[in-house]
Amino acid sequence: GAGANDSKNLRVKLVLLGDSGVGKSCIVLRFVRGQFDPTSKVTVGASFLSQTIALQDSTTVKFEIWDTAGQERYAALAPLYYRGAAVAVVVYDITSTDSFNKAQYWIKELQKHGSPDIIMALVGNKADLQENRKVPTQDAMDCAEKNGMFFIETSAKTADNINQLFEEIAKRLP
Ligand code: GTP
Ligand code: MG
Repeated sequence: GAGANDSKNLRVKLVLLGDSGVGKSCIVLRFVRGQFDPTSKVTVGASFLSQTIALQDSTTVKFEIWDTAGQERYAALAPLYYRGAAVAVVVYDITSTDSFNKAQYWIKELQKHGSPDIIMALVGNKADLQENRKVPTQDAMDCAEKNGMFFIETSAKTADNINQLFEEIAKRLP
């Protein structure tokens, strides 16, 4: 095709949303550079990175990733990044009930103001901190199912399920 989304080379605008400190920037750093930063600094405004993956059928998917700032003072900027996004990844921290509540706020916000055909994923990060878990997996699964979202638990620290997250999103692209 002549458009931006050729059948074999897809380009996808993806936005990450979620409370400050849930690990959005670490998820992106792990996916794009294979690294983890235990002293990751809070994001100011938003940051942009891209990464291309190849699927088994040799389709390539270039993710253009907007990593938004979770601090409350930046909340008004979020629509600039999720508007026109094909994919929204809503992240919470499995050790924080507040962050799960905030994720539900973002889901509602996306349903009200996001693109009607947006693909949404719910991500429970910091899955390496099982001993401090506050959000039961089943609660998040129920929330995701109710809202027609893909759900996965990840750890940016151990890399668990990080590539799988993006591969599963890629498989769901139209
Ligand atoms: P904002 O930019 O303020 O929205 O925060 P953020 O969601 O981008 O959080 P960030 O990625 O900066 O991570 C916050 C803190 O959590 C850092 O100290 C990270 O090292 C830590 N962290 C991120 N992911 C994980 C994880 O999977 N496991 C553990 N144990 N810590 C993590
Ligand atoms: Mg950040």
